[in-house]
Amino acid sequence: MKFRLIRISPSILAIDYNNDQILKESLDLIEKGGANFVHLDVMDGKFVKNTTFDWNLVDKIRDMTSLLLDVHLMVENPESVIDKYAEAGADIITVHYEACKDITKTLKKIKEKNIVAGIALNPETPVLKIIDLLDSGLVDLVLVMSVKPGKSGQAFIPGMAEKVAEIRELDKKVFIEIDGGVTLKNAKLLRRLGVNIIVSGKSIFSAKNVKKTIWQLKGKGFINRILEKFE
Ligand code: DX5
Ligand code: ZN
Repeated sequence: MKFRLIRISPSILAIDYNNDQILKESLDLIEKGGANFVHLDVMDGKFVKNTTFDWNLVDKIRDMTSLLLDVHLMVENPESVIDKYAEAGADIITVHYEACKDITKTLKKIKEKNIVAGIALNPETPVLKIIDLLDSGLVDLVLVMSVKPGKSGQAFIPGMAEKVAEIRELDKKVFIEIDGGVTLKNAKLLRRLGVNIIVSGKSIFSAKNVKKTIWQLKGKGFINRILEKFE
């Protein structure tokens, strides 16, 4: 296909998600603004230093929005909690390559539940580690971490755009999600190199005009508008 539809997944890590009113207003804002997913950064204080929330918040958000739930598990041994996030209504579950004891088993468990299965790579993890996995058909999505996992508002790490290109070269079909430090400036190159889903915390939630920013991150506003009609 000549044009690739770009989906936007705003990360609530950039807002005070413990405040119900702010959470509801933010979800409404991004939904009305044309976002496709809401990105939910789960951190356990072990795989990364910070701790955020668990399946209880995911369950709560399910009833607050009709956006698809994009769950990014930055936790050790994610296999043990897949059931919880499936029950909470996750549409995508992404686990870290670095955090899994048995990555094949973990991905199979996600797919058995008819949930989109993603694998995330830390900035220092090379693509060659997942070549066999891509061939296995168990991976629906690869999430390229373009900052060190753990917090919102960090700068994009150079070289991560090339990583996107490397994955796209290897696999024309897999969904590629980019996560961390995405701005209106670097989004254009990322779209060109093969990204499908753009995660953004700071760029979206600190924007004066959220709707406009979401459309700008999508790029080619006109083409996206037309393609979305045919979805
Ligand atoms: C970092 C998280 C990201 C983060 C992105 O560990 O995975 O999703 O919230 O936030 P920004 O876009 O502000 O870098
Ligand atoms: Zn994330």
